[in-house]
Amino acid sequence: MPLTSTADLVDRARSDRHALGAFNVITLEHAEAIATAAEQTGLPALLQVSENAVAYHGGRLAPLARACVEVCEASRAALGLHLDHVTTEELLHQAPAAGFTSVMFDASRLDYLANVAATRSAARWAHDHGLWFEAELGEVGGKDGAHAPGVRTDPSEARSFVEATEADGLAVAVGSSHAMVHQDAVLDLELIEELARAVPVPLVLHGSSGVPYGQLAQAVTAGITKVNVGTALNIAFTGAVRECLTDDALVDPRRYLALARTAMTESVAAVLTTLSPGTGAG
Ligand code: G3H
Ligand code: ZN
Repeated sequence: MPLTSTADLVDRARSDRHALGAFNVITLEHAEAIATAAEQTGLPALLQVSENAVAYHGGRLAPLARACVEVCEASRAALGLHLDHVTTEELLHQAPAAGFTSVMFDASRLDYLANVAATRSAARWAHDHGLWFEAELGEVGGKDGAHAPGVRTDPSEARSFVEATEADGLAVAVGSSHAMVHQDAVLDLELIEELARAVPVPLVLHGSSGVPYGQLAQAVTAGITKVNVGTALNIAFTGAVRECLTDDALVDPRRYLALARTAMTESVAAVLTTLSPGTGAG
């Protein structure tokens, strides 16, 4: 089916008191795995391309973005396409033509006032071009971004930040951090509840690979509406490949990439069903 707008997917998740799973794409197999898991579970999902993934593909956005659009349009699932952790206006401005339905602009390493100014300007541009817009608020006065371990988002600052920037969604720092390879993060669920009361827009959890499934479900109950997952797919991908590469006669990449894709599909499906308990086909 055609791409579904991120605004619709987020609104639906919020009104159902569930969360939308958003999964990072690096290779075509990642995109295929996310679409298959969404079909299998009967649940919507977002495919995300990060600025780092664009850099990996030689700084070119279009090849991976076009592949994602094709995968989404060939799927029966409701899928959107999100450009993640964008730090430059140059990349932001490529998003609409490349088919994206939303963007996350990450100025969280700037100090507060500079973050507000850069984010508000990016949000206005995104809205003028029909994109749902996610922002990130870093540590108070800090330089380390919102997802370094130990960093926390302050609820009243978060509310002011959203009002000042006109963001549609806010990435918050509540105990997770990026690229964890073990599910041993401890979320601050009370802070999520406070943030959900203070901030009028949907809250986004980044670095969700390190969060145990039980806590992901609790985070949704506490008020998280979008859950970003990247590393978990890569753990599944690499684990499957590592297991079969001991066979010297195995040289056809389709043999091991198929196993990697299946492993990622299972990982995505597990997250999706955790975020929308009691629904879907899974
Ligand atoms: O924006 C993407 C996510 O925050 C991914 O984080 O790779 O730690 O799951 P993760
Ligand atoms: Zn992130």
